[in-house]
Amino acid sequence: VSATGRAAADVLIDGETIRAVLEPGSHLLGTDVAASVDRVVDATGKYVIPGGIDAHTHMQLPFGGTEASDTFETGTRAAAHGGTTSIIDFAVQTYGQRIEDGLAAWHEKAAGNCAIDYAFHQIVGDVNEASLATLRKLPDEGITSFKMFMAYPGVFYSDDAQILKAMQVSRDTGMLTMMHAENGPAIDVLAQQLVDAGNTDPYYHGIARAWEMEEEATHRAIMLAKLTGAPLYVVHVSAKQAVEQLAWARDKGQNVFGETCPQYLYLSLEDQLGASGPEWGSFEGAKWVCSTPLRSRAEGHQHSMWQALRTNDLQMVSTDHCPFCMKDQKELGLGDFRKIPNGIGSIEHRMDLMYQGVVTGEITLERWVELTSTTPARMFGLYGRKGVIQPGADADIVVYDPNGHTSIGLGKTHHMNMDYSAWEGYEIDGKVDTVLSRGKVIVDGDEYLGAKGDGRFLKRGLSQYLI
Ligand code: URP
Ligand code: ZN
Ligand code: ZN
Repeated sequence: VSATGRAAADVLIDGETIRAVLEPGSHLLGTDVAASVDRVVDATGKYVIPGGIDAHTHMQLPFGGTEASDTFETGTRAAAHGGTTSIIDFAVQTYGQRIEDGLAAWHEKAAGNCAIDYAFHQIVGDVNEASLATLRKLPDEGITSFKMFMAYPGVFYSDDAQILKAMQVSRDTGMLTMMHAENGPAIDVLAQQLVDAGNTDPYYHGIARAWEMEEEATHRAIMLAKLTGAPLYVVHVSAKQAVEQLAWARDKGQNVFGETCPQYLYLSLEDQLGASGPEWGSFEGAKWVCSTPLRSRAEGHQHSMWQALRTNDLQMVSTDHCPFCMKDQKELGLGDFRKIPNGIGSIEHRMDLMYQGVVTGEITLERWVELTSTTPARMFGLYGRKGVIQPGADADIVVYDPNGHTSIGLGKTHHMNMDYSAWEGYEIDGKVDTVLSRGKVIVDGDEYLGAKGDGRFLKRGLSQYLI
């Protein structure tokens, strides 16, 4: 199955790369191909797809006085189990730090620890003359996109002047500007007022981060991008009004893109409000505290996200994998939702959760491949090597069994370093059967054969979506 169609085929792999895609039973130079190879993976009755590419992950991200709980080792192992064979993680430049130093630290965390191939985007947390100069040179190092935050004042936040300057670098270099589009300063006022009024439960995180603040910031990012001529990619879109902004700009011919995440397709603010358990009581809702927040189902945001994936107003699905444990991490926000570290862990479940969209008729089989692998590769300069099954491409391949079944949850298929699952109890019609990373079988049924250090750093080219 590719982004554009499906056919019965044999895929011939030679070492780390794909040599040929053949009609079943083909003969090459007079020899029966199937009879002359070292090993056959029988995919009869199953889908053969390019390995998943998760273009938004945060291994070991420092946040709110703690650090995302998956290391590059545990996070990429979980990814492999779930049919994802490449990640693009965010190297962080913190305030007061040089980009070079932040990036070097990220290379150090990842090198020798990944089970699958990995690349980086750069988070720009401190816009100044020096960091802008460094940013310009990052494409030479294979880093062709950077993320800025209109949210989190005092942490990652950039103001409009800083964003404008960085976007000029984006325009000049062809680097993609990735935007966390939420009006942070306004959100922080609302959050303070909620806490002052005694509304401290996790649910109020989503009330403070109102969709108006996402719509407004998305619009502002679009206008700054228009003004500067920067290509724009809005991350973790959850509000239907933000999608409307993206659709409006795209209809006018502007080069803007958006991703959403499984949590914004399936989970809701109402679920979070109703959440209560024996261990955490009403603090149970902290399991789903992320930014942008879960949105109201009654308002129809989830429905709009699926629709936008069909109409191509949104182009991709990434996880924004940013796991924290309840114990010692999420619980930092007991009594004050602002102190709950933001993030949900889903890297292991993205391919399965999106395949459910095929089962329920929300998207086609081909669109599933496009949203999870082919477009991420094209968007972020990996296409040809990744995101496609064709001669010369890396042999990153997933055999997916539509007749298999996956029960999601802690202790079931869960290999992420978390003490809970944001997806506990989800039942998937479908199962990752076999996973190959550059020709090596790393998942064979329930057996894991990958190893830390197998994954290599991917130098990316410019986005194929530049105009
Ligand atoms: O809640 C989230 N999304 N945490 C990770 C940081 C970010 O903003 O992507
Ligand atoms: Zn973000
Ligand atoms: Zn993120």
